[in-house]
Amino acid sequence: MTTTPSTATRSPAPGTLLESLLNEYRARTQGSAAAHWRAAAALPGGETRSTTYHPPYPLALATGHGSRLRDVDGTDYLDLVNNYTSLMHGNAWSPATRAAADALADGAALSSPHERQVALAELLIERVPSVERVRFTNSGSEASVLAARLARHATGRDRLLMFDGGYHGSAPPLLAGTPDVVTVPYNDLDAVEKALDNDIAAVFAEPFLGAGGVIPSHPDFLPAVARLAHAHGALFVLDEVQSLRNHPGGEQSQLGLRPDITVMGKVIGGGLPIGAIGGPEQLLSLTAATTTGGLSHSGTFNGHLAAAAAGTVTLQHLDASAIDQLNLAAHKLADAITTAAAEARIPATVTRAGSILNVHLSTTAPVNAAQARAVADTPLLAALHLALLLDGIYTTPRGMINISTALDADDLERAAQAYAQAFQRLAGAEIPTLPR
Ligand SMILES: Cc1ncc(COP(=O)(O)O)c(C=O)c1O
Repeated sequence: MTTTPSTATRSPAPGTLLESLLNEYRARTQGSAAAHWRAAAALPGGETRSTTYHPPYPLALATGHGSRLRDVDGTDYLDLVNNYTSLMHGNAWSPATRAAADALADGAALSSPHERQVALAELLIERVPSVERVRFTNSGSEASVLAARLARHATGRDRLLMFDGGYHGSAPPLLAGTPDVVTVPYNDLDAVEKALDNDIAAVFAEPFLGAGGVIPSHPDFLPAVARLAHAHGALFVLDEVQSLRNHPGGEQSQLGLRPDITVMGKVIGGGLPIGAIGGPEQLLSLTAATTTGGLSHSGTFNGHLAAAAAGTVTLQHLDASAIDQLNLAAHKLADAITTAAAEARIPATVTRAGSILNVHLSTTAPVNAAQARAVADTPLLAALHLALLLDGIYTTPRGMINISTALDADDLERAAQAYAQAFQRLAGAEIPTLPR
């Protein structure tokens, strides 16, 4: 859609607008530039995580405390990223840092099972009804790999069915294009039905497409997918790495799902690296060293004790009422952003899953990854990201934001105002529309 403001108020075209924002950014972040060029001599591209890069160079953050981040130039930002949904209670939350420090002081790599791991596993079993046993890894990616191995081992099949735009980690066999991975559009039951055959070991799904644009599943879509998977003798794997924070029992409790394997990560490590799979005792026992013909699964740092300790205290403070408050605050923020966009005549939509949001610069909310991609990676979205950074609001380049319990009412008001100002800067620029 093209807006038609009067000549007097016409803003620069996205390219020009982007150029002026980039120049402003360069002028304000010289310490980040220096840090980036130093890093580039040691780290390819000056970074170690593709998702977080943005031109001309990412901010070099120095510290994070609560809802505030500080960059190497000494500028403060309100944190609406929370390390991509993993910092439930904000940065350097003291109960988690204390628990981790206590674990480190006791020896956190003891090469034996430890009660700190058991305590976290017990908590997950108590909260998530489908989880009777837990097996730890070091990341969500590793947990997804373990889920795939377990599904293949249990079914004797090789192929996996996944959704376009679904993200289960950065390792094969979890990436589209990998042999043995069949990919179909999200929210498209016909496509699932056509692709499922008696060769598929497991269907992998997220309760909403997270990295794919925070796109909620249609009501009944995932229960139907689970039924179809089971009818074809495949396992149903639900990846709750992002979504576990949205409900005490994970989003599966809300969606009426009982997955064969639940993949977990992020929040369960309280800000430190961890991953886990959970599921029924009978299936998970295939990973036990005592099971004849079972699946061997090792990892030097599996279930690291500092992460287990930080994760336990983090979940203990994330009860139903804390989650309700967060989700309500996120709902209000989504409304405020949508209203601000409308006032600036920017056709933005905000998709939301619990306290995780994604701002899409499109007239309608995308329902699958292809639609979300069509309006991401545009100069306009890049301009929105830079305008927010220049106003002291830290968001992701792809438009995803999420809120932690560290953000108070004033912080959220400030975030809403910053979006309003950023949209005013964007007003008058060309807006791409969604493909049909
Ligand atoms: C749904 C989902 N699954 C798996 C992963 C991978 O987790 P990790 O980054 O800990 O490897 C992510 C990470 O963003 C994720 O969002």
